[in-house]
Amino acid sequence: MTPAAPPHRGEGPRRGRGSGLRRRLLGRRPLRARLALVTATAVALVALGVLAAAYVVIRYELVRQLDLQLKQQAGTIAQQTHGGTGKGVLFNQCVWRAAPACAQIVPADPTAPGQQDLVLPVTGATRRVAAGTLGPYYSDITHDGRPMRMLTVPLQDRKGRALQVATRSDTVDLGVRQAGLYLGAVGAVGVLLAAVLGYAASRTSLRPVTRLTATAERIAATRDPAHRIELPPYEARRQDEITRLATSFNTMLGELEEAVAAQRRLVADASHELRTPLTALRTNAELLARADRLSAAQRERASDALGRQLREVTGMVNDLIELARDEEPQPLVEQVRLDRLTERCVAEARGHWPATAFTADVTEVTVPGVPARLARLLSNLLDNAAKFSPAGAVVEVRLTRTEGTAELTVRDHGPGIPAEDLPYVFDRFYRSRQARALPGSGLGLAMARQIARAHGAELTAEQAETGGARFRLAFPLGGAA
Ligand SMILES: Nc1ncnc2c1ncn2[C@@H]1O[C@H](COP(=O)(O)OP(=O)(O)OP(=O)(O)O)[C@@H](O)[C@H]1O
Ligand SMILES: [Mg+2]
Repeated sequence: MTPAAPPHRGEGPRRGRGSGLRRRLLGRRPLRARLALVTATAVALVALGVLAAAYVVIRYELVRQLDLQLKQQAGTIAQQTHGGTGKGVLFNQCVWRAAPACAQIVPADPTAPGQQDLVLPVTGATRRVAAGTLGPYYSDITHDGRPMRMLTVPLQDRKGRALQVATRSDTVDLGVRQAGLYLGAVGAVGVLLAAVLGYAASRTSLRPVTRLTATAERIAATRDPAHRIELPPYEARRQDEITRLATSFNTMLGELEEAVAAQRRLVADASHELRTPLTALRTNAELLARADRLSAAQRERASDALGRQLREVTGMVNDLIELARDEEPQPLVEQVRLDRLTERCVAEARGHWPATAFTADVTEVTVPGVPARLARLLSNLLDNAAKFSPAGAVVEVRLTRTEGTAELTVRDHGPGIPAEDLPYVFDRFYRSRQARALPGSGLGLAMARQIARAHGAELTAEQAETGGARFRLAFPLGGAA
């Protein structure tokens, strides 16, 4: 490893030469080529290991057989020479092709006569075997430039002699070399086959990943989340990690598409809804620009209208910004006494709507939430109730708790909500036909439902039994904020 250099422009610390080579080999290739390469390398390594082991085993076996053969030959010759005269050499020369190639008897005493014809190498160890101080042993020798295997055994004839038997051993080397060649050929074919099969297997199993990559690239290029990874039915049935990944990716794309569509709708709705008040604003502003031609009363009327429209537009823009925000900011969440908050909101509503009689019947309830947002929700409901009630009518607010739920209801005695409007009252900018004469932009209930959902609560609207509208806000107690 070279010493780690400080990371530079997003590069990690420098690695050793081995990892650099690995990066070069694997880094820029597609995943399936990398998998095939890794498979082929693993198979090649295993094949090499098996070949090396086979080579050692074959060599050991061939040498063992040669040794066994030498032992038998030595036994036969020892029997034939038993009680013999002690002639030093059985064959005066080595006959390369014969088995054994040569054999000789060596006395323990190096000065004993008749040793000039000895053809096989005699060492101190040979004399010691002849003298009976060393056991039989095998050795590899070279005779006339040819490799031979030799066995030296003591002759059990009490004359202190050793028998040496030698035979050619190039057959072993030849056999081992041939076996190695065959094994190598088989191994090479095996590695090639493994590479091809590995590539085919990785190609097949990575097909969904290839599709996933292509889809992701297409989305990045077109910025259109409507694309999906197409899984053929047989792959979709397979439920392995990759198909599960593809399915999750499709689900995520669905959500993304939905979110993008919702954002687009919001922007389209907002720009559409802002057009009318902005046009009125411009008309009044243009009117005021020619203030010198207007009477004082006209000027005042125009500037009053301008102020009111500006406030309306500001309110609408603020509502839109709040609607675009999805979740309540976590640091602001606290334990809220809903009963006290309700009483405070009702008191404020009484101030805003002096002609409406509000009654509040509350029990103690604590929920986790953001007080300012919950107050916003409640005042939207109370404002609606007052706005749509005839003068002097009562608006009843009730907070009850039952097993696991706290329920806040706001009920008025106005015209109520027609059944055909009920499904839409929580939609952004929705206002029923009768409501269009009254001030408002149709964002209040959309925002109220969004705040309720962010607090884990459900806001619903219904027609009250004896007329009027009833809104229910149900909090699961002990639920999430
Ligand atoms: N208490 C109610 N009685 C009858 N109709 C209602 C009542 N509350 C809401 N609605 C109907 O639902 C529509 C949507 O209400 P929402 O509060 O979202 O809008 P808005 O009150 O018209 O405007 P904003 O609240 O943005 O000023 C209203 O226009 C009205 O048609
Ligand atoms: Mg409203």
